Amino acid sequence: MSAQELREKFIDFFKSRGHAVVPSSSLISDDPTVLLTTAGMQQFKKYYLGERSALDDFGSRNAVSIQKCFRTTDIEEVGDERHLTFFEMLGNFSFGGYFKREAIYYAYDFLTKELGLKIDYVTIFDPEKVPGGDWRKEVPFDYESFSIWQELGLPEEKIRREGIDNFWGPPGTEGPCGPTTEIFVKGIEVWNLVFNEYYATSEKKLKKLGEPGVDTGSGLERLLAVKNGFGDVFEIDTLAPLLAEVEKIKPGLDLRIKKILADHLRGSAFLIAEGLRPSNKEAGYILRRLLRRIVAYQIRFDIHADIFSIATARLQAIFQAAYPDLLASEIFPVMEMERDKFESALSKGFKELGRYEEMTAADAFYLYETYGLPFEVMKEMSPAAKDIRKEDFEAEFEKHREISRVGAEEKFGGHGLTDENQNGAEREKIMRLHTATHLLQAGLRKILGPEVEQGGSDITPERLRFDFSFNRKLTDEELKEVEIWVNGVINEDWPVSFIVLPIEEAKKTGALFFFKEKYPEMVKVYFIGPSFEEAISKEFCGGPHVARTGEIGRFRIIKEESAGAGLRRIRGVIE
Ligand code: SER
Repeated sequence: MSAQELREKFIDFFKSRGHAVVPSSSLISDDPTVLLTTAGMQQFKKYYLGERSALDDFGSRNAVSIQKCFRTTDIEEVGDERHLTFFEMLGNFSFGGYFKREAIYYAYDFLTKELGLKIDYVTIFDPEKVPGGDWRKEVPFDYESFSIWQELGLPEEKIRREGIDNFWGPPGTEGPCGPTTEIFVKGIEVWNLVFNEYYATSEKKLKKLGEPGVDTGSGLERLLAVKNGFGDVFEIDTLAPLLAEVEKIKPGLDLRIKKILADHLRGSAFLIAEGLRPSNKEAGYILRRLLRRIVAYQIRFDIHADIFSIATARLQAIFQAAYPDLLASEIFPVMEMERDKFESALSKGFKELGRYEEMTAADAFYLYETYGLPFEVMKEMSPAAKDIRKEDFEAEFEKHREISRVGAEEKFGGHGLTDENQNGAEREKIMRLHTATHLLQAGLRKILGPEVEQGGSDITPERLRFDFSFNRKLTDEELKEVEIWVNGVINEDWPVSFIVLPIEEAKKTGALFFFKEKYPEMVKVYFIGPSFEEAISKEFCGGPHVARTGEIGRFRIIKEESAGAGLRRIRGVIE
């Protein structure tokens, strides 16, 4: 059976049983509690909550959809037989229409009669299996589902009782939730039926919903693989041809790596088709990580073929009927741009990685920060990195954030201000202005040229003041351009990081320093951008700075004037 046949079969089955056909919502969720759409029910939250009426909007209390979904929680599992980041979810829903009996009968009929499959066993919710103290322990045993399955002829041992795995919690912090019954065929979970009876608040308090609802989800890829008797989702027709392309590009490449490439190529294509662009924040950052991992593998496994253009052409052929948007969008140029941005830094990072015989989580974080090397790739590639635990790596992340935020202990190096008489809000403001000063210097050099050199700088909680060498007054256009450039970098939300180097080595990196200042043997070089190699700004500096440029806010130049012969002075504010 092809994916298209299964999609049609599913839709027709529920349509002929009074369900309105609702198109997939965007992968980029408009629900503020999640970044990406992870389940079919998300677009229907308002109907479960009674905020809107399905009857008014769809002409029915029941709906059916095929939802584009993306789950980062499964990213580490990708490469096995059944996990994917992007997948299609078949689902039927009811908002105060039918409940457990109909939902279970529909699923049973669809699987056994339409697809001719045999149910191995099912699971149902039992609070006895929930650990003490857990908020879900107060939910009663799902006796109703139990007896419906018995009615359908399942013997008691095939109706397994489970705990929290059979309670669907809301994606994000709060939302509709309730007990579930999961259906297993050939040992694989193919369908999850959720009975939304409650609303979980962000403090995990349960309230009864006015009208109970049904939310079911069946991963198309898994169900189709099971239907076709495949042991691996990558054998179905929406994945196999893509995997075959990867194989052609690099015969003999490890199967797990091939699957990761196919999965990430497919996932990023769908995200880009939805209008998402790689960036350093939120959903854009998820996309960036996928693309970076692909590029890292290209370098690591010496893949010279243009994997992005080959894959996008193949993906468009696979999905043109079901998702015509994939044809119209600019998938390939976006991927290519991202590759150009990270390729050289990643290559250098790999060389650097090869030098380590032993490695700590802090080293791994340094390589990640400096060259953008993905953590998983380092682990796979370097015996020295193999045993570094993800938690330790993440702890380094946190530490770094703290370092960037200190503020309290450190002097505002070079700016003549100490923190003693400042409150937290002022310190915060000064840090933002401080990072803005670095960007201002970089922007001036960008627009006016390298003759711009720092002459002095002073920051108060109200404004920054920056003196620099330049032999004439700046035009309004030049000032505007600098301002636009600085705000552009702010919007890109780049990380702000530093490395510590011996002074002579630091000077060789091309980082800017202040000639008048005397520096110690070891200096901190603050850099802003995707990596040290590709930094937008590099300066000797004691810090502290904000963690990301996005924290600065909008930058505005308020004044430009002379500060002596060949010296100009700019005052700027953030708002
Ligand atoms: N929301 C449930 C799931 O994602 C059922 O659709 O599994």
